[in-house]
Amino acid sequence: MTTDLEKNHLERVESLLDSMSLEEKAGQLSQYFYLQVPGQDKFLEAELRAGRVGSFLFVTDPTKINSLQRIAVEETRLGIPLLFGFDVIHGFRTIFPVPLGMAASWDPKLYEQVQATAAREARAVGIHWAFAPMLDIARDPRWGRIVEGAGEDPYLGARMAEAQVRGFQGETLGSAGHIIAGPKHYVGYGAALGGRDYDEVNLSESELRNVYLPPFAAGVAAGAGNIMTSYVGIGGVPGAADRRLITEVLRGELGFKGFVVSDAASVVDLVTHGFARDERDAAVRALSAGLDMEMWLGLQFGAGANPGPKQGAFATLPAAVEAGELDEKQLNEAVRRILLLKIQLGLFEQPYVDLDGIQTTFGDPAHRETARVAAERSAVLLRNEGNKLPLDRTKLRSIAVIGPLADNKMATLGPWVFAQGLGATVTVLDGLKNAAGDNLKIEFASGIPLPSRAIPSPFAGMAEALGSTAPGVSTDDFDEVEEFKRAVELARSSEVAVVVLGETDDMNGESASRSTLDLPGRQLELLEAVAATGTPVVLVLIGGRPLDLRRASQLTSAILLGWHPGSEGGNALARLLFGDAVPGGKLPVSWPRSVGQVPVIYSRLNSHQPHTASKRYWEEESTPLYPFGFGLTYGQVEYSNLTLNSTNIGLNETVTASVEVHNPSGKQIEEVVQLYIHQRYGRAARPVRELKGFERITLAPGEKRTLSFEIPSSARRYWSATEQNYVLDETTFDVWVGGSSAADLHAEFTVKEG
Ligand code: BGC
Repeated sequence: MTTDLEKNHLERVESLLDSMSLEEKAGQLSQYFYLQVPGQDKFLEAELRAGRVGSFLFVTDPTKINSLQRIAVEETRLGIPLLFGFDVIHGFRTIFPVPLGMAASWDPKLYEQVQATAAREARAVGIHWAFAPMLDIARDPRWGRIVEGAGEDPYLGARMAEAQVRGFQGETLGSAGHIIAGPKHYVGYGAALGGRDYDEVNLSESELRNVYLPPFAAGVAAGAGNIMTSYVGIGGVPGAADRRLITEVLRGELGFKGFVVSDAASVVDLVTHGFARDERDAAVRALSAGLDMEMWLGLQFGAGANPGPKQGAFATLPAAVEAGELDEKQLNEAVRRILLLKIQLGLFEQPYVDLDGIQTTFGDPAHRETARVAAERSAVLLRNEGNKLPLDRTKLRSIAVIGPLADNKMATLGPWVFAQGLGATVTVLDGLKNAAGDNLKIEFASGIPLPSRAIPSPFAGMAEALGSTAPGVSTDDFDEVEEFKRAVELARSSEVAVVVLGETDDMNGESASRSTLDLPGRQLELLEAVAATGTPVVLVLIGGRPLDLRRASQLTSAILLGWHPGSEGGNALARLLFGDAVPGGKLPVSWPRSVGQVPVIYSRLNSHQPHTASKRYWEEESTPLYPFGFGLTYGQVEYSNLTLNSTNIGLNETVTASVEVHNPSGKQIEEVVQLYIHQRYGRAARPVRELKGFERITLAPGEKRTLSFEIPSSARRYWSATEQNYVLDETTFDVWVGGSSAADLHAEFTVKEG
């Protein structure tokens, strides 16, 4: 049913559309990067005045946003305001843990709050739209963008997707202090061959629908206003021009009502891929596939050091309509979606940013508090031999903090952080000093220089232009041999060594794939030398992907995975190390032993020899080092009494599983209770386990709690290759509940028609 307000909006859209030239229509569908590159600003402002720009990305200076908006509103023929988009990935001014870390919190409510906070800060400077959340399922840690999503699992991915969309957007599109969410990259980008970014993707329809689509379905159901297509193509059809996926599946089946944007340059890239004949063909085919807006660099890409300004492919749309290559009705459909959104956001009434409110928003202490709690809840305790952690501040006199990532701000923040997010950053060293008190000496030695990429990031220049390099440990003036010795001596003379290792911010993210999962540079050598002193070692791991920890786990008493924890990261990790906060994060990915196992996932299919599942390689176990869903806490958890409300149900009925969770220890604990199912037989073989429910809980010492999980028919529905459709089978299901995907508390139920 259409409300009066919606009717009014639609009428405004039609009356605007009637007055637009073909060029102005194409302009509304054209989004440009506004970079600080000489010549590009003048070119883009002229394009804007001529009505040929509908949106900009990468402008974060509110004064600049207002001045560009003023051109759109006051100097263009129709005065249609601009939409400003930005990569608000894990915070804007206040930086939160990277998305893979947030997924490890298994706390959708918290993620919603995190993205609401990010939205509030971004909206304060005039940004209307986030190119987030990234919903790509990622099963290959070599792929650098694994850090940007929720990991390997469609169910966890879907819960995190809807939470983020709600957080960004608030109640409805246009809610005050909120921005549009743009789930990306539709779809299958995470399956790039060999984990190489942008490489080809080959997905079966079953994998697409059972694994890669569910987070997008959840994001759409939560009301996402935008979707971004992917660079890659399935079966040779690039994402920006895949009519079946955009128009039939996304809009038709999933009911998506918003607008679809291409990834950067990917309409022009249709030519590069060898798909479109030329840019006009590319524009026509993308638009006809259902793509509404072209994201384009505004520069002649690949033209060397000083690329000149250049229009996008959508600038050819007017000529294509005039030549009869494209029906104007098709163009109008896309323009309607953009105009409607601008009206819904209230941009015609309030196009400008209130510059006075920004500092108050940025200075809100609740934002830092949220960042700290998020970093605490995303950390995963992977190992704690002899309960070395938490460290007892009242007894310890000295801690050696060692490693090149212990005091590096950018590594603490992670990828996708630009100038506006480089405010106060608390490193692990800072955090430990803040929390230590007067009687505990905290001393630092980097030991080795910051590891760096062998092949620099293609984005290095851009990141620098955008001011995203924060000072880290200066390695200019240190003698490597002396510094290494100093670190080892410091470890020897201290009671505990907290060694902070992992990856720098530019080692993961876009264009940051790896061919090994080793600790980069000389980090393992440093760890060996520190461990050889006999001082107990606690490893704090910084980074955005699973790394090979086989050797590191032998050398350490404890491993705390902190990810890139964000602005408050150091305070959060110090609180966990000292026991002021309790670790309870769980892995959102299976943690491989070595790169050769990749991809290793918990939701695999049974082979014809299930009993050999862990012996598929002769060098080592084929099981992961740490299973999906794994993570320790300070204390014990016991599970008992898994019961089902019924063990025989009809196809469309729901089963409810209940379980008792007990904390027998004398300490407060954090646990993520997880429910997995397995379909024993049916129209397709189904994964040996699939996550279908979870809840993160805190239990006081001695506390016992009963939790219930529903298993509705929708949780048992899947895409069957035989039927080429979604099916519900009559079959028997196994159920497990516990603290990881290796849970062993078991029950079963049978499903029959009627
Ligand atoms: C990335 C997107 C991002 C866009 C804009 C692209 O290179 O693939 O994820 O949103 O750039 O920065």
